[in-house]
Amino acid sequence: TLNKRIKEREGVHDLQLWEEEQTKRAKATAGLRTERVQEGDYEYVFDEASKVSFLDGGGIPASQQTKELQAFKEQLEAAISAETSLQEGRKKLPLYAMREEMVQAMRDYQILIVSSETGSGKTTQIPQYILEENLAGGLTIACTQPRRVAAMSVAARVAEERGARLGGEVGYSVRFENKTTPGVTKIKFLTDGMLLRELQDDPTLSQYGAVMLDEAHERTISTDVLGVLLKDLARARGLETEQPLRIIISSATMNADKFSQYYDGAPLFFVPGRTFAVNTLFTQNPEANYLQAAITTVMQTHISQPLPGDILVFLTGQQDIDEACEELEATCKKLGNRVAPLIICPIYATLPSEVQAKIFEPTPKGCRKVVVSTNIAETSLTIDGIVFVVDCGLEKSNSVSNGISSLQTQPISRASAVQRAGRAGRVRDGICMRLYTEYAYSHELEEEPIPEIQRSNVESLVLQLKSLGVDNLLDFDFIDAPSAESLMGALESLYLLGALNSQGEVTRLGRKIVEVPSSPQLAAALIASANFGCTQEVLTIVSMLEESASLFYRPKDQKVHADSARQRFTHKEGGDHLTLMQVYNTWVEADYSITWCKENFVQYRSLQRARLVREQLEALCERIEIPPETTCGAGDYDKILKALLSGFFANTATLTRDGRHYRTLSGKIQTRIHPSSVLAANDQAYLPKLVMYSELRVTSEEWMSNVAPIEASWIGEVAPHFWKKAKGDGVEERKKLPKGQGRAA
Ligand code: CDP
Ligand code: MG
Repeated sequence: TLNKRIKEREGVHDLQLWEEEQTKRAKATAGLRTERVQEGDYEYVFDEASKVSFLDGGGIPASQQTKELQAFKEQLEAAISAETSLQEGRKKLPLYAMREEMVQAMRDYQILIVSSETGSGKTTQIPQYILEENLAGGLTIACTQPRRVAAMSVAARVAEERGARLGGEVGYSVRFENKTTPGVTKIKFLTDGMLLRELQDDPTLSQYGAVMLDEAHERTISTDVLGVLLKDLARARGLETEQPLRIIISSATMNADKFSQYYDGAPLFFVPGRTFAVNTLFTQNPEANYLQAAITTVMQTHISQPLPGDILVFLTGQQDIDEACEELEATCKKLGNRVAPLIICPIYATLPSEVQAKIFEPTPKGCRKVVVSTNIAETSLTIDGIVFVVDCGLEKSNSVSNGISSLQTQPISRASAVQRAGRAGRVRDGICMRLYTEYAYSHELEEEPIPEIQRSNVESLVLQLKSLGVDNLLDFDFIDAPSAESLMGALESLYLLGALNSQGEVTRLGRKIVEVPSSPQLAAALIASANFGCTQEVLTIVSMLEESASLFYRPKDQKVHADSARQRFTHKEGGDHLTLMQVYNTWVEADYSITWCKENFVQYRSLQRARLVREQLEALCERIEIPPETTCGAGDYDKILKALLSGFFANTATLTRDGRHYRTLSGKIQTRIHPSSVLAANDQAYLPKLVMYSELRVTSEEWMSNVAPIEASWIGEVAPHFWKKAKGDGVEERKKLPKGQGRAA
């Protein structure tokens, strides 16, 4: 490709055009964007990876080459030498030593399990080997990732290694964002959920010649289910058929045997890692506050340990991480130049990608980097230079009980603890500092993590499987099956939603719901909006709900300002849903301004994403046969709430006698309005009698988040059979109250 590139470079023949193109390139690279621009006969390619660009056309005599052209050439040469060193780097990876054997094994066996330490090169190299050895028969190679961040960052890395434009030979596809070119993209990184969606349209995955299920040990629902479906597909597209499908299951060392057994003894290819010894330390006594303990440990390590040697800290979620980063920054400021500069990098899934990219930048000499991460850095991201690991022993993970799923902070498993510690031994002997006791490690942690499928709500999954033609879920060959109770619960709610009929078959509505890449409830609300003539409004709310958790921020020193800014959007009568809409609409009126976001303490990134999601959902409307343009205006919020209720009727709760708590209609669970809701600020006397919420969050109590007041008659209107059932359980119908003051009375 390098020679081809030079040839393309020689193609420069029109200097004026070339200069224009340079300006564009400067603009393009400033935002680190890759773009392809067609102008007349010329095509400009702005290449993110190598930061060089070229255009097709005739030739230019060497004598006419100008200074700029010379500079361009030098730039190109620099890019080429950077690529050469990348190529050398590829050869140093543990996987490279096994390349021949591995390629041979892939030729011999259709399904191969590959297991190695994190950082050996599985994710970045295996798809390239398959491409280089033409093992996919010219078709695309899919490599699935449980997380969108990993899919995007690894695609960028592999594109760079191949000197390719991101979105060209190497691309990615994650929910609401597709960077691939059909027919051109040969290596496609995509989230496991996206591949599962692709199966809906193309049940044999005919565009792929190889699928690598990466990070299979994480046991996400989508990866697990893909694993089952691929087992079948492997039979249909065996090595002897015209279009064989090769399957690689890639896993960190845990769980590898389990996969081999599942695939009827598929060969297990183990790649010995290049790891150093890690000295593991425990705390003597349990820590009362793991966050403070983590911060102190980082500062002590930074001050006492020699440079270089970066630190990786595992915390639980965005809130923790932001808080820790703020505090570390403040402490460093106080210490001033008495300590070496500490570069503080947060990382979690919802962080914007430019900020994420910071964690991969090499640490400058004389500095130390501290990466503060969720469990995302446990296996799916490799950060070079880490010598110290600080492990709080906790993670946020989903669990489900009585049909309510909740994201809770829970102890990690021993397997995860080992994995975390291993991150310290990649460059030299390292140290892992565990903020829990040795006793807790050996007596209180589970051996292995519980697969996601057994601790989540499986509604989406059940509907997807049903629409793929899986009739009997109880007989489905799950790797680890969800409980019968959780399957039945999902079938029941899908039936109430109208997505399945009484025979358990997917209805017309169900088919539409499957098309929408959101939860079945949000999809149903969007589809119902057509009946109420408010699709524009519901599109906004649905997109904003996806971002609502990370929308507002409250900097420590400006809490009052942040709260009063928020107050301005508060829509008391319409609750959180209409408040979200108000935020979005005001932002649109402010011309999508960043400054506006800063002034109002709203995350620009979240709004940007909501905008992107909204665009995609709007474009999808046609496919699910709803006219996207209907609008009722914000004043007519009854209609909007009714449309939403059409999806969320099962998430409703009535105020109890104590005037503070609510009881859910479907599960009779005692709950309260989460303090982050605009309704939570209501005086107790004004709490609505009946509310709808988007989810229950369980911490020390059960909280409803994203809450809106509704009227009892609406439930009967949008979900008659649910209402009949709820009434059967003793909920009496309330008189419809006059609009406006009524609902809060
Ligand atoms: O999949 P596995 O954990 O076995 O390794 P990998 O993700 O393919 O990483 C191989 C090497 O590529 C790592 O050691 C990193 O140095 C490098 N890499 C990177 O620099 N940037 C990325 N986004 C991903 C990998
Ligand atoms: Mg990997």
